[in-house]
Amino acid sequence: MNILVTGAAGFIGSNFTYYMLDRHPEDRIVALDALTYAGNLETLKEAFDNENFRFMKGDISDREAVYKLFDEERFDIVVNFAAETHVDRSIEDPALFLKTNVLGTQVLLDAARDHDVKRFHQIGTDEVYGDLPLDRPDLFFKEDMPLKASSPYSASKASADLITLAYHRTYGLPVTVSRCSNNYGPYQFPEKLIPLVIYRAENDETIPVYGTGENVRDWLYVMDHCRAVDMIMRDGRDGEIYNIGGHNERDNLTVVKTILKHLGKPESLITFVTDRKGHDKRYAIDPEKVGRELGWEPETDFDSGIAETIDWYIEHRDWWEHIVSGDYQNYYQKMYEGR
Ligand code: NAD
Ligand code: DAU
Repeated sequence: MNILVTGAAGFIGSNFTYYMLDRHPEDRIVALDALTYAGNLETLKEAFDNENFRFMKGDISDREAVYKLFDEERFDIVVNFAAETHVDRSIEDPALFLKTNVLGTQVLLDAARDHDVKRFHQIGTDEVYGDLPLDRPDLFFKEDMPLKASSPYSASKASADLITLAYHRTYGLPVTVSRCSNNYGPYQFPEKLIPLVIYRAENDETIPVYGTGENVRDWLYVMDHCRAVDMIMRDGRDGEIYNIGGHNERDNLTVVKTILKHLGKPESLITFVTDRKGHDKRYAIDPEKVGRELGWEPETDFDSGIAETIDWYIEHRDWWEHIVSGDYQNYYQKMYEGR
């Protein structure tokens, strides 16, 4: 099968690309990525050696470029990871989130519809359900819960899910949507909590914890997520939403302390800073549906996954140092100059 993976130079898209090239050598992966600040071609460098891989620099909201690629490639499956993804940035600049996450998704849906794509899979987020109270550990996000997004980011992702599902109901486009909890693992951009704490602790810099640090996230190892997406895009039912989560809830302070302990760094690095505006309290997924229908279950518990992840960042210091220094943004020029 010929599979379009958008946002493949980002965190989850790159892990998914490697997962697919490894597990499905019979398939071809075409990566489309605008290489925004969050896209890093260095992350994909090993994929370039694989003859089943093609990279295309391009913006999902550029209709002409997207249609040209679809005309050339005749995709069987489209998996849309491309997005603006950082909640804090969406609070500063909501417009870009609407352009990429909503209008960009619509362009891909139009192209998929006009080219008879067999499955369009939209990568969504659990943030569309809003948050759960800290004192109700019995409550979990279910697929049929009302949408109640808190940030411009989550509102844009909720809109993208809705337009995707509308293309199924109105035009019969075969779509699926998955909504996952916080991913962690290799190649995550170091603006997000876990890689940020690792690199700052490694440099003996203060660790900013928003508010009291009591907010809870449900951590999902990125490869468990990739496996779920692979199952849903092949065998999920048209027009359905699947929640993906690992029952690995931790409050932020516990996550930060776990990382500091693993690195042998003092807790005195922790600095409590002003809270994020509209900061969601708790996310917690009920993944019962994807388990029942497709047999997916998370394989990595947080304690082993976080240890492996920290070790990966220690062993790949160059990777995040290039990002922190800004060098990674020259990689495209270096790779492509004269091509
Ligand atoms: P990321 O920020 O690491 O990567 C996003 C990628 O999309 C980058 O490579 C960037 O260059 C690319 N991109 C941005 N705008 C683009 C555009 N207009 N055209 C083409 N490419 C563009 O993000 P991530 O954490 O890997 O998230 C991937 C997807 O998963 C997103 O849709 C996000 O909403 C969703 N998600 C992420 C998490 C998480 O914990 N990271 C959890 C739930 C859902
Ligand atoms: O739940 C899925 C979502 O998870 C995805 O849809 C988003 O794309 C992804 O960025 C992530 O959103 P969060 O806001 O939960 O992730 P982030 O890493 O930004 O923050 C995790 C928690 O840590 C959150 O409660 C805010 C807090 N935090 C974050 C940063 C960057 C801090 O306390 N200090 C920080 O410096």
